[in-house]
Amino acid sequence: MIEHPLLIVVLAAGKGVRMRSATPKVLHAIAGRSMLAHVLATARSAGAARLALVVAPGMEAVRAEAAKVAPGIDIFEQATQAGTGHAVLAARPALERHKGDVIVLFADTPLVEPATLRRLSEALDGGAQIAALGFEAEDASGYGRLIVGSEGHVEAIREDRDASDAERRIGLCNAGAMGFRVPDLAGLLGRIGNRNAKNEYYLTDVVALAVAAGLVTRPVACAAEEALGVNSREQLAAAEAVFQARARRRAMDEGATLVAPETVWLSFDTVIGRDVTIEPNVFFGPGVVVEDGAHIMANCHMVGAHIGKGARVGPFARFRPGTDIGDSARVGNFVEVKNAKLETGAKANHLSYIGDGRVGEGANIGAGTIFCNYDGFNKHFTDVGKGAFVGSNSSLVAPVKVGDGAYIGSGSVISKDVAPDALALERSAQEQRPGWAAKFRTLMGRRKRSA
Ligand code: UD1
Ligand code: MG
Repeated sequence: MIEHPLLIVVLAAGKGVRMRSATPKVLHAIAGRSMLAHVLATARSAGAARLALVVAPGMEAVRAEAAKVAPGIDIFEQATQAGTGHAVLAARPALERHKGDVIVLFADTPLVEPATLRRLSEALDGGAQIAALGFEAEDASGYGRLIVGSEGHVEAIREDRDASDAERRIGLCNAGAMGFRVPDLAGLLGRIGNRNAKNEYYLTDVVALAVAAGLVTRPVACAAEEALGVNSREQLAAAEAVFQARARRRAMDEGATLVAPETVWLSFDTVIGRDVTIEPNVFFGPGVVVEDGAHIMANCHMVGAHIGKGARVGPFARFRPGTDIGDSARVGNFVEVKNAKLETGAKANHLSYIGDGRVGEGANIGAGTIFCNYDGFNKHFTDVGKGAFVGSNSSLVAPVKVGDGAYIGSGSVISKDVAPDALALERSAQEQRPGWAAKFRTLMGRRKRSA
């Protein structure tokens, strides 16, 4: 590790035309996070001492994303998109500064696992000077092919467009990641030419040059799903499916029950505890933590929410950022929560909006309660005390405080603070006319008969 510190260079300057998008390809998301962020996170976990990124001119959003997820990353600009070999050379200052191993990754190949990158490093430790990651593709079209000689060395990598018919029949494809332990990598890359179908400087051509120079080049195999390169929206969806399958499997391995796993959508950072049950059709956006023993009923949508131990939520609950559901709390159907905390054992069972507030321990929010948090200009806070009872169809007009143990009569519009243990009631007195209904029925019956 210390002997061969690792520099990982991530290529992201490609135009990505096949995405047909105004957004740079590598900023398209998988499980709520850009492909670029996935790759940079993998690079970090694989033990990179330094990271470098190659972008095209004008890719300010790509630079910003990289700086956000990997502060301190060196960013280089490739003036024209003349190929992957040319792109690595855009990071020449980083290559020349670095004394140690180099791994090149493509930002459009987001599913490679850190353990796989460590195997590239191990191949270098085992004597390879170049280690090329390969996989057996079900459909190899579009991928470069690894031409492996009888000694088990990679003799060359041939791009699909430049391959002969015989070479196209090779199933072992180039995944894109490559490891190098070469004294003058920049010098070697500088010898790559562009006489090929695309007139590009292919990184893959470095292999044949290395072999000619007497260097040892070895293949390292990985699973096909890790090597999935995203060049189109269809491949983006395929990569998403692989990610989701992995994430669901991990949640189940760690002790959660997913009743219909293929209907649960997880984010890159979803944390699910033990003995959590998740019913069908639940969407976890970024930033959700579900503690042990919680039960998420069908059709919930949540982003930026914390769900405490043993809480029961749904069906059809919606949690927006800043939701904090306490242990054993209960949130039922058609309840929306945003930037609000329900403390231990609090209940909001039906049809409510709880925005910008606190619901104290054991308090009950009746059906149809609305926290009126917005006056058209600013958001205000509603505080409901411990053990308070808010009757159905009440409006709590923020800023307002309902004291511990207070009781709000149904249908009230509460705009002034309520003292602890008081009853607050805000509705007109009920009018009552004895016998009216019976008389009314008699009258209506007579009219019907004479009609
Ligand atoms: C590349 C490989 C191919 C491999 C496949 C795996 C080459 C020549 N081909 O093909 O062997 O099977 O990936 O997915 O390496 N990029 C730049 N600057 C450029 C061109 C590309 O930064 O001038 C970046 C892209 O942003 C992308 C990566 O390099 O992240 C790969 O480029 P792409 O055009 O997608 O190559 P493929 O045709 O997929
Ligand atoms: Mg690609």
